[in-house]
Amino acid sequence: MSPEVVAHRGASTRRPEHTLAAYELALRQGADGLECDVRLTKDGHLVCVHDRTIDRTSDGSGVVSELTLAELRRHDFGSWHGGEPADVLTLDALLGLAADHGTRLFIETKHPVRYRGDVERSLAEELDRHRVDAVMMSFSVFAVNRFKQLRPDLPTVLLYDRLWPRARPRFADYAGPGVDLLRRHPDRGEGVYTWTADDPADIALCRERGVRFLATNNPDETRAHLAAN
Ligand code: G3P
Ligand code: CA
Repeated sequence: MSPEVVAHRGASTRRPEHTLAAYELALRQGADGLECDVRLTKDGHLVCVHDRTIDRTSDGSGVVSELTLAELRRHDFGSWHGGEPADVLTLDALLGLAADHGTRLFIETKHPVRYRGDVERSLAEELDRHRVDAVMMSFSVFAVNRFKQLRPDLPTVLLYDRLWPRARPRFADYAGPGVDLLRRHPDRGEGVYTWTADDPADIALCRERGVRFLATNNPDETRAHLAAN
């Protein structure tokens, strides 16, 4: 069976990552799911920003957790990539989009240890307010465990970058190896979430191994490769 195509930060090659434009394009390109990273602002809002700071992906600078949502809204998160100006994307807005389209949302919490569970608690509360097919993800076992206790009904992915342990904790429903780990473990891959596979050889590998969810920055090209091979 073909892996489900998950748009990593939206259709992030063609549009500025984590903007509404990137996610809308991913949906038009036929992505089965959407991936995002979330961080807490100083005043407790979850926003979709990958880095600790907004320096790379906006016309501003500063640490996300030291800025309020109103301060973040003064900056443009689109033009850096050559796109239209764009507001910082709140998780609330992205959940609205996912709900409207009936699309699964893969939500990765960043820096869970530093904030002692605040990110996971806020995420659980926010998901209580939306009817969305959501999957929680993190590189931190503590974060995944904590979230599972709050929302045992929602699936979780434990992400792996350098090492892929054989045993997976009970609270992690899926393993989430990077694609380089998949290459290094020829006997594994069945039913996992893999990131980030843009290269045709990696896309083919994901299918051969029975990967269930394939995160890509190019949902259209990935779909085309899967359909043609
Ligand atoms: O989908 C998981 C992947 O996004 C993890 O890496 O750095 O892109 O958040 P990163
Ligand atoms: Ca991510």
